[in-house]
Amino acid sequence: MKYFIITFGCQMNKSDSERIASVLESAGYKSALKIDEADLIVVNMCSVRKSAADRAYGVLPKFEKLKIKKDSSGSKQQNLKTVLTGCVLKKDRKKFTEKFDFILDVKNLSKWPEILGSNPPPKTDNYLKIEPKYSNNFSAFVPIMTGCNNFCAYCVVPYARGSEVSRPAEEIICEVGNLIKRGYKEIWLLGQNVNSYNSISFSQLLKKINDIPGEFWIRFTSSHPKDFSDELIEVMADCKKVTEYLNLPVQSGDNEILKKMNRPYTIEYYKNLVKKIRKKIPDIALSTDIIVGFPGETEKQFENTIKLFKEIKFDMAYIFKYSPRPGTAAAKMEDTVPQKERGRREKVLTEILKETALENNKKYINKEIEVLVENKKSSNSWLGKTRTHKNVQFESKENLLGQFVKIKITNALPWGLKGEIL
Ligand code: 5AD
Ligand code: SF4
Repeated sequence: MKYFIITFGCQMNKSDSERIASVLESAGYKSALKIDEADLIVVNMCSVRKSAADRAYGVLPKFEKLKIKKDSSGSKQQNLKTVLTGCVLKKDRKKFTEKFDFILDVKNLSKWPEILGSNPPPKTDNYLKIEPKYSNNFSAFVPIMTGCNNFCAYCVVPYARGSEVSRPAEEIICEVGNLIKRGYKEIWLLGQNVNSYNSISFSQLLKKINDIPGEFWIRFTSSHPKDFSDELIEVMADCKKVTEYLNLPVQSGDNEILKKMNRPYTIEYYKNLVKKIRKKIPDIALSTDIIVGFPGETEKQFENTIKLFKEIKFDMAYIFKYSPRPGTAAAKMEDTVPQKERGRREKVLTEILKETALENNKKYINKEIEVLVENKKSSNSWLGKTRTHKNVQFESKENLLGQFVKIKITNALPWGLKGEIL
């Protein structure tokens, strides 16, 4: 019996898929290299934007084909089972019921084998306690909490993932400790809002992970500006393993829009926070999330976002066109900004970002920096990341995957750097 998992969405979903793979393997399934070979297909969906949710619909024609193949050949596809999981909204649940054999909650992962008619389930009821099948052997996602209590007006996460639950600190430290012993070089601590982690404070958790012996980098995502404490800035600055990269979603550059979004801070607060962070951690690279075309966003309000972009000079920004999501507060607001205008606003911000990111990247030229090698691009060409999460391309005949290397930066582009291995 073989399984195939299709994952959409954020790092949290990717991390969940690693636990799903682990449970399926302990239930006797083997990983299928191609979807056509699978007896069980799991779609781990994302509902954060309509475009993401639509991708789950996009796989349905493939299912139909696989089922037709099953009927005509009577082959091993006979028992093809399909599972939908991840962030599934109530409204979509109804629509998907007839398309998938099962709609299962990842929180009940330990019950999946029983439901699917396989071997006994893992011993734990808490899915985060299940040891994942990590996707590689040098960089690992470690969820520290799930869910969200913030109810930003546009966002489905609190509905789809439920309220915040923090994992016990000892459990996280134990998981990270084991990964480091196995040679992992990068740990991503995941949560919808890591700053509201509450088993101990998030700063204390960072300190404890930083104290684990070994050479590795600590990254985390995502942070809500409202909960970003001075203590956390101090800890980030002091802990050498915590990298100089921060995703700090601002969502809009306009105070009225922020209020309508139920984001309880002002742009003045955000700018001051960035100032404090940059003062303590001068090399920090900042990324943000932005929504353009939120209901009622006027040209003037959008111009405030332009102003913010020009002022902060982000290294990276994830720019999203607003999409109304069922059940959220914003879905009840009048959707005033035409699609075409949303597209224009997205382009305007992307152009500014291109300039500021290039300007920031140019500062790396001639510097010798540490890079973690992540990918092979072509036969002798490799891609890695700096501590500041910048892409770096370089040449080498050696297999350097998953290793730290020293690179001299020779070229800067808006979306990355090029260099020579030392
Ligand atoms: N429309 C567009 N973007 C959204 N995001 C969340 N909900 C929506 C929505 N309804 C964006 C936010 C968030 C990121 C993960 O997705 O910017 O930070
Ligand atoms: Fe969604 Fe806001 Fe929670 Fe982030 S903080 S997951 S945007 S509700």
